[in-house]
Amino acid sequence: MLLQNTSKQFGHVSVLIHWLIALAVYGMFILGLWMVTLSYYDSWYHRAPELHKSIGFLIFIVMIIRVIWRFISPPPKPLSSYSQLTRISAKLAHFTLFIALFGILFSGYFISTADGQSISVFGWFEIPATLVKQGVQADTAGIIHLYLAWLLVILSLLHGLAALKHHFIDRDSTLKRMFGFPPDTK
Ligand code: HEM
Repeated sequence: MLLQNTSKQFGHVSVLIHWLIALAVYGMFILGLWMVTLSYYDSWYHRAPELHKSIGFLIFIVMIIRVIWRFISPPPKPLSSYSQLTRISAKLAHFTLFIALFGILFSGYFISTADGQSISVFGWFEIPATLVKQGVQADTAGIIHLYLAWLLVILSLLHGLAALKHHFIDRDSTLKRMFGFPPDTK
């Protein structure tokens, strides 16, 4: 098992975190869109947002680990076959995905704590409210949260399509690398 990234290969820690977060993001997007359609009398009316907030906190912790891990073990170098445009757009896309994800996590926290209530993480412990400005805060954070969620999902799908293009059209190892496979020549 290769834990650390090398200059040519993603290690298993980065691979695991990448796919775990991707799965969590799509799951949370569907959960979030579904939970706002529930009526007060639905048995999931309270449970779904509690789950959404608790998983959101876990995503935050994993993202912090991901950022620290990036410094400890930087991602592999771009493939030599990439054009300058591919290198720049990939960097920009990865950076935007990170920023959008953190923006969603912070805005989610501000929606949930706008009325001064703390967030219970699976009933294990509480995340206290800090900034509390009722009304305006929940509305503004809510709009940011929704728009960033759409941005993240659309951008990550384009990013996924780019990975599939590398795999099926360019036939390089971009996608295989993200599954932890060693590099090939291209
Ligand atoms: C919400 C979903 C996703 C997010 C937030 C995301 C984010 C990222 C980020 C930040 C990187 C840079 C490396 C790192 O720091 O780990 C990356 C790399 C990568 N992602 Fe994703 N990703 C998502 C979904 C997908 C999907 C669906 C695919 C493929 C179908 C994919 C394929 C790849 C590949 C192949 C790389 C490596 C690119 C390279 O070597 O430069 N990702 N992703």
